[in-house]
Amino acid sequence: MTETRAPSDPFGLLTPESRRDPYPAYARVRAAEPVHYSEAWGAWMITRHADCVQAFRHPELSANRAGGYAKSLPPEVRERLRPLLQNLSRWLLLIDPPAHTRIRAIVREAFTPRLVAAMRPRIERIAESLIDDLSTRDEFDLIRDFAAPLPVIVIAEMLGLPPEDGLKLKSWSDALAAFMGASAIKPELVAGALRSVVELEAYFKEAIARRRGELGDDLMSTLLRASEGEEQLDEQELLSTCTVLLFGGHETTTNLIGNAVHVLLQRPDHAARVREAPDEQAPRVVDEVLRYESPVQRMGRVARGDFELAGATLRGGDRVFMVLGAANRDPEVFERPDVFDPDRRDDAKHLSFGIGPHFCLGAALGLLEGRVALTSLLRRLPQLSRAGDGAPAWIDNLTVRGLASLPLRP
Ligand code: HEM
Repeated sequence: MTETRAPSDPFGLLTPESRRDPYPAYARVRAAEPVHYSEAWGAWMITRHADCVQAFRHPELSANRAGGYAKSLPPEVRERLRPLLQNLSRWLLLIDPPAHTRIRAIVREAFTPRLVAAMRPRIERIAESLIDDLSTRDEFDLIRDFAAPLPVIVIAEMLGLPPEDGLKLKSWSDALAAFMGASAIKPELVAGALRSVVELEAYFKEAIARRRGELGDDLMSTLLRASEGEEQLDEQELLSTCTVLLFGGHETTTNLIGNAVHVLLQRPDHAARVREAPDEQAPRVVDEVLRYESPVQRMGRVARGDFELAGATLRGGDRVFMVLGAANRDPEVFERPDVFDPDRRDDAKHLSFGIGPHFCLGAALGLLEGRVALTSLLRRLPQLSRAGDGAPAWIDNLTVRGLASLPLRP
């Protein structure tokens, strides 16, 4: 079957084929013009591993994508969206030094490896209790019934919030994700994100006030303690940081789990290895899933001024994407890049958590959740298989790579 490509999309980035499997289109771009201005994306695409590493660290590339969006709005709309724009304006993901350096240091102090490691038994318990329910059914949807609730319950517990608030937190976070991930700004998505931020901030304000009276060992208490030091967090920074922790670790981890199960269902030999030696194999498999089917396919920046990158001339204000899904399959650094191989020994590492000053603060937590989820599922449900036929549908989003649903039999 031949694909139809629009004149503005000569590499076929937006075709249905690329939604299912974007990697051939990335490879075409990388081979033809590694730093390429795509009319289809309305942005530069950086597709080689080495160029992405350079871009992630480049002083001329700003993480502040929300500022330009705010400026583009008419004043009355900007005023109406103020709570949303204020919340976003303090997100670690979307800010530059010096504020980024200060806030990141505080969150890092709170989000310690010890705190993450201590979560292991709780993550196991959450996974087991979700599986208890799945194991009694004829059929379930891995995404809806397992991969989506797990990370949101985990982060709610880490922040010291009642786990039963998980669903409410998830719906707020989903509304923000729909707004952030949309290729075109639609009024209903903006309205949903605005409403969610207002409700979420009211919820966090109450939780923070309660916690201030009785600090514990949870992430929110640690954040409150850390923020009372010399480098304080103001009220908005605290609310935005809680929001970004909820948001950042949520859909990403859901899709890591979904992509991992999808990959392993097609490779029963690898699933068997995880079942037999989970401590050794689960970390390798999860890491290779991150490379092979990265939950985040691209990360955005904005050019501050004019500059050259790998032979291309970027202009101030240009939008730029480091295409992680392309960099992770760059044949210059990965041997047989299109083969799923948890035993690979390449010198280079995947870029699925980014690199440099914005490197994912939740990487250790995401990896732990992925490993626990996979280990528990394969051990408890050894007959796990696809329900129904036909290929599962991928989410229609250029940034997020994950399955909309994955019907399974336990
Ligand atoms: C497997 C799951 C995950 C993936 C693939 C992932 C991916 C990423 C990527 C690519 C970035 C870099 C953004 C950039 O350079 O602009 C990032 C940053 C971040 N991630 Fe994750 N993430 C995951 C899990 C988590 C978890 C579990 C949390 C927290 C609960 C989290 C919180 C954050 C935060 C706060 C940042 C911003 C750091 C900064 O800008 O300084 N992530 N993540």
